[in-house]
Amino acid sequence: MEPVDYQEFEPKLIADGERQNLKRPAQSQQPPRLWRGEIHSVLISRARLARRVRTLARQIEKDFAGGDLVIVALLNGTVMFLADLLRGVSLPLRLDFIGVSSYRGGAEPGGLIFTKELRLDVRGRDVLLVDDILDTGRTLARVRAKLRALQPRRLKVCVLLDKPARRLENVAADYVGFTIPDEFVVGYGLDYGEKYRNLPFVGLLHPNIVRGVTS
Ligand code: IMP
Ligand code: MG
Repeated sequence: MEPVDYQEFEPKLIADGERQNLKRPAQSQQPPRLWRGEIHSVLISRARLARRVRTLARQIEKDFAGGDLVIVALLNGTVMFLADLLRGVSLPLRLDFIGVSSYRGGAEPGGLIFTKELRLDVRGRDVLLVDDILDTGRTLARVRAKLRALQPRRLKVCVLLDKPARRLENVAADYVGFTIPDEFVVGYGLDYGEKYRNLPFVGLLHPNIVRGVTS
């Protein structure tokens, strides 16, 4: 089965009628000029991200002090969050990645394929699993089960964003940066069709873009 190179799940499409209700963003939520055609508004600013990530890092530092910590991050959406988070965690730790990609079609819709397997030994260690966003929970449920089978001493989950409205699996994160409404977001590592990961803020994708890519 071929992995797809665009977002595999269905972002919420905004119908024409609804589209008019999408208010013009307040001045403070206007994205930089360059991005205005594609990004409707800034949901979480760079400054808020920085503050919250520092707080999360401090909590993690406290909770895992004295242990044998392995941070396991999911590729590719965690790239910015992870880099900022790690700089705030002053503990001896190891870092490894799991690559996971969803695919569309075939007998198992929403199925996952692993594009990079864990290499570090986590048995008997404290594991902090880091992802960008907890949406339906399918990804984290699968990865968590996989890690549990490796018998870590402790397994905790940290996500930058939590979108509880769309949850299908019974999975909750121990550390959450921000709980957000059921909107499709990009930036700060999160993508749409592999784009927008480089935005320094989390923004709402303009409905025209969502429509353009999916239709
Ligand atoms: P889940 O398996 O449905 O929980 O989805 C988790 C994955 O879907 C995340 O790691 C993201 O790659 C992707 N995802 C879910 N919601 C969004 C979004 O709003 N923007 C960008 N990616 C998203
Ligand atoms: Mg992802």
